[in-house]
Amino acid sequence: MYVLQRNLLFMGDPETMHNRVLYALSVAGKSSFGRSLISLIAGACPASPLRVMGLDFKHPIGLAAGFDKDARALPALFALNFSFVEIGTVTPRPQPGNPKPRIWRFPEADALVNAMGFPGEGMLAARQRLERLRNSSASLPPVGINIGKNAATPLDDALSDYKLVLTKLLEFGDYFVVNVSSPNTPGLRTLQEPDSLRKLLAPLLEITQGRKPLLLKIAPDLANDDIATAARVVNELGLAGMVCANTSIRRELVPRAATLDRGGLSGSPIFPRMLECVRLARQELDSSRIVIAAGGIDSAERARQTLDAGAALLQLYTAFIFQGPRVVKLLMGK
Ligand SMILES: Cc1cc2nc3c(=O)[nH]c(=O)nc-3n(C[C@H](O)[C@H](O)[C@H](O)COP(=O)(O)O)c2cc1C
Repeated sequence: MYVLQRNLLFMGDPETMHNRVLYALSVAGKSSFGRSLISLIAGACPASPLRVMGLDFKHPIGLAAGFDKDARALPALFALNFSFVEIGTVTPRPQPGNPKPRIWRFPEADALVNAMGFPGEGMLAARQRLERLRNSSASLPPVGINIGKNAATPLDDALSDYKLVLTKLLEFGDYFVVNVSSPNTPGLRTLQEPDSLRKLLAPLLEITQGRKPLLLKIAPDLANDDIATAARVVNELGLAGMVCANTSIRRELVPRAATLDRGGLSGSPIFPRMLECVRLARQELDSSRIVIAAGGIDSAERARQTLDAGAALLQLYTAFIFQGPRVVKLLMGK
């Protein structure tokens, strides 16, 4: 059924279609009729409850950062069966992101490349929407907030951007993810070096004071030793865990994407490396710290493999684009 709709959706420019779908979801999610309709389309997904980081999840499958950057469509996304949603990356000030086009589809490989560069309305807009939502809903599934820096902020001042967003949004998120792994903001990934990580993460932990879990999102392109080192820093400082992983700069994994000169690859081709990252992080992390996995999880079999590799929670983005509104139900093996 979705194949027909997908053919129509895929006729348009990827980002335009994304914005239209997000807008439709944000409108539909405002009424109980709209949410019921979305639930009907998504299909009933049996619960498989779990408690992670002190939070209750209906099942382990959530929506990865980047789909709903500004927290526009949360009620609809929960009606689509996602057990949690990570909004963002949220930056302090609004910014347009990189020049367009900046999303490319590769249906032959179930993959996307994006070079978005954190376009968004900034922390105050996200805060306003989350505040309104929390005031109007008695209980909401967990909402993660992925935080980043503005492109115009020099790397040396990155910490002040992360501190600003975390402070402003602390009350409104259930967990927070420090994004130092997007390939689309120049220099950002250098913050993954151990000394930079310590300088960035320690002051952020002083802000959370243990009130909200803080995690580190890494790139799948880090060398194995660097993943282990990052995990040791997470242990040493006392973060809640790691998100493995962001998009990959190994665009050559998809032949037609190899000619692009920018952007990060997501979807099916990055799954094997993502799984290695999860295993490496899990090996090094203390048992009290968790791994959230993201990267090419697009079938019930892959979801199972990722949980077996030690991930506590799973996230997807690209599989949602290619498989549509029933993707969570499909991945739950129902
Ligand atoms: C269009 C697009 C935009 C994204 N934006 C963000 C972002 O703003 N912050 C972030 O941490 N990850 C972002 N991601 C990465 C995803 O959160 C996820 O880590 C990655 O896509 C791997 O999962 P997948 O293979 O299921 O898509 C984005 C991914 C895509 C495809």
